[in-house]
Amino acid sequence: MTRIFFNEVATRDGFQIEPAFIDTDAKIALVDALSDCGYAKIEVTSFTSPKAIPMLRDADEVMGRIRRVPGVEYTVLVPNLRGAERALEAKADELNLVMSTSETHNLANLRMPMAISFAALSEVIQRVDGQTPINVSLSCSFGCPMEGDVPQANVLGWVERFADLGVRGVTICDTTGMAHPAQVNRMVEALQQRFAQLQLTLHFHNTRGMGLANVLAAVQGGITRFDGSLGGLGGCPYAPGASGNICSEDAIHMLDEMGYDTGINLDKLLAVARQMPQIVGHDVPGQVAKAGRVTDLHPAPEFVNELRQGAS
Ligand code: COA
Ligand code: ZN
Repeated sequence: MTRIFFNEVATRDGFQIEPAFIDTDAKIALVDALSDCGYAKIEVTSFTSPKAIPMLRDADEVMGRIRRVPGVEYTVLVPNLRGAERALEAKADELNLVMSTSETHNLANLRMPMAISFAALSEVIQRVDGQTPINVSLSCSFGCPMEGDVPQANVLGWVERFADLGVRGVTICDTTGMAHPAQVNRMVEALQQRFAQLQLTLHFHNTRGMGLANVLAAVQGGITRFDGSLGGLGGCPYAPGASGNICSEDAIHMLDEMGYDTGINLDKLLAVARQMPQIVGHDVPGQVAKAGRVTDLHPAPEFVNELRQGAS
């Protein structure tokens, strides 16, 4: 059975676009509940500027107070050296560095050109010096909502630069749900041909309903690592039109049914997912938490039983 590794990003990507502040205790309780569900990794928060992402201004406290379950990696998003210092101080298990493959989105999201981001992140990698594993998330890798097409060759070029600096992994992000399955096929094939030594993760948003189709394309192309967000929350506040990530429990349910080993206890996960509307104060896009698993059957209507008895 092929093992699939899930990284839960609800408390980072999921929460960063929410309009109403989510209490620090609620964030910690959610991470602690997720820690018991079987995730390979949880992206707990981001060490970004509290002015840029006010929702995650409590990142240091959250990282300090979560319960660490052995076997689960607790990662954090880092945009610059200041963020890296905070992440090391917080004893994150991984630093997830971020930059965009679109100049316009990089300027909007990180307030600097890509070249300056790359220089800053290179400095972070030097500073970390192998103490903590590093992943790099490349935003807008399947298209930018402001620039349009992002050539695959450009994305591969950034992956190569970071691979040359010795990072452990790279996440290819479809920040505003522009990818389609044929494009994912091409990207995954090229990535695996050139960067088989890297941990490759795919990060999809369901902005145009193509999220699970893209997961399927990636998994059939041999990708075994995915980001997902409980309830399907999420989005970058600096990418116009952004909306939720692929819904973790929906993706995990699909892969479980198909016979993949996700390592996740889906019953526990669904119980946590059903708390999401209350935590964020509104309905969430996830479907399996509402519909139940395909194995959760309904009783037949009484008249069907009567028809059956009449027929016998
Ligand atoms: N953690 C905490 N504070 C930070 C910080 C960090 N990693 N980086 C910068 N700051 C603070 C500075 O101390 C400064 O504070 P002050 O105004 O009180 O002096 C302020 O933020 C501005 O610093 P500056 O270096 O000029 O940053 P900037 O305004 O050019 O913003 C980023 C650059 C990268 C810090 C900011 O755009 C950011 O955090 N972006 C993240 C966006 C994001 O997470 N998007 C969603 C994920 S894809
Ligand atoms: Zn995202």
